[in-house]
Amino acid sequence: MRIGIAFDIDGVLIRGKRVLPQAIRAIRRVQDARVPFVLLTNGGGTTEAAKAKELSRVLDSDIRASQMVLAHTPMAPLAANYSNVNSNAVLILGSPFLCIFTCTRPSSSKRNESKSGKSECKDAALAYGFKYPVLAEEILVTCPEIWPFRAPSKSCQPISLDRKIGAILSFHDSQDWGRDAQIICDLMRTGGDLRRVVEPHHRDRTRHLHQHHTPPEQLPLYFSAGDFVWSNNLPLTRFAQGAFRYALETVYSRLTHGKPLEYTMYGKPHKVTYDYAQSAIDAHAVSLSLSHEVPIMPCKYFGIGDNPESDIAGANNNGWTSILVKTGVYESGPHEAKYLVADVEEAVDVILSQPHD
Ligand code: G3P
Ligand code: MG
Repeated sequence: MRIGIAFDIDGVLIRGKRVLPQAIRAIRRVQDARVPFVLLTNGGGTTEAAKAKELSRVLDSDIRASQMVLAHTPMAPLAANYSNVNSNAVLILGSPFLCIFTCTRPSSSKRNESKSGKSECKDAALAYGFKYPVLAEEILVTCPEIWPFRAPSKSCQPISLDRKIGAILSFHDSQDWGRDAQIICDLMRTGGDLRRVVEPHHRDRTRHLHQHHTPPEQLPLYFSAGDFVWSNNLPLTRFAQGAFRYALETVYSRLTHGKPLEYTMYGKPHKVTYDYAQSAIDAHAVSLSLSHEVPIMPCKYFGIGDNPESDIAGANNNGWTSILVKTGVYESGPHEAKYLVADVEEAVDVILSQPHD
């Protein structure tokens, strides 16, 4: 049987601003053994190509964009509904100017920061084919009264609000929970028509909105990851995208007198992401010339991760073999993983010691 591996990133290959030395050795060993692999992360906020380039640099390896499964990568097919000149816009949530990207080796350029308001979240959306991706900060620049508690970024340009927002996609951790929660609730209450929020002549027509009503059909809302916490260099875990979602659910329900927020989840531990990751591993196998018959040749997929709720639950629920490491979120206690190891290099030992083609 052939084998394939999905490496988690935060807490497995990288911790805070530090690339784990075991990670460099582990990746080198699977490359030398010609084992197909992907990097499967609930992080994102950039293009697969940019993340592959940066990880290739910090891990001193050649990692291709097609091996990157970011939290939002499996959302790409959604773009088909928002890809032509007459399509609605989509709101892309995620840190527009500071996508957290952890490495210690100096980078040649200051990635993720832009004086022109260019956003890597937006680059990713455009690369997937979304015709009109809009950022929350662009909405704030267009109408600062929407969230009047801080000055909008000078790097963003105002946008036209004529085009309706047809969907909200959270690509990465919110940079500003208050701004994002407010804008999402505004979009939900106006069916994606921001003119009804910002233009004074809409005041009478929107009066009923102040009575906490929402349209019967809720605007589609997609989250790329549900992790409640993630782990960096600090001793206590940091809030992740799932924590923002809990906060949003609470304020939305309070605002609508108990209406539940409806949304669709992507990322680990969800099946859509594991299906995508399997295809990416299979494609890597083909590119390594290991197989030309991917669909019929059975494969044992291994998922290495530090977060029991996403990495281990996801691997177990999707028929993969789970390996939990102790270099990230998990420290001790009961767990559901098939293997518990110290770090990613030990995980690779376990995998390569198994019989495989
Ligand atoms: O937001 C959580 C994210 O940083 C976790 O990333 O690589 O551990 O799936 P990862
Ligand atoms: Mg992790």
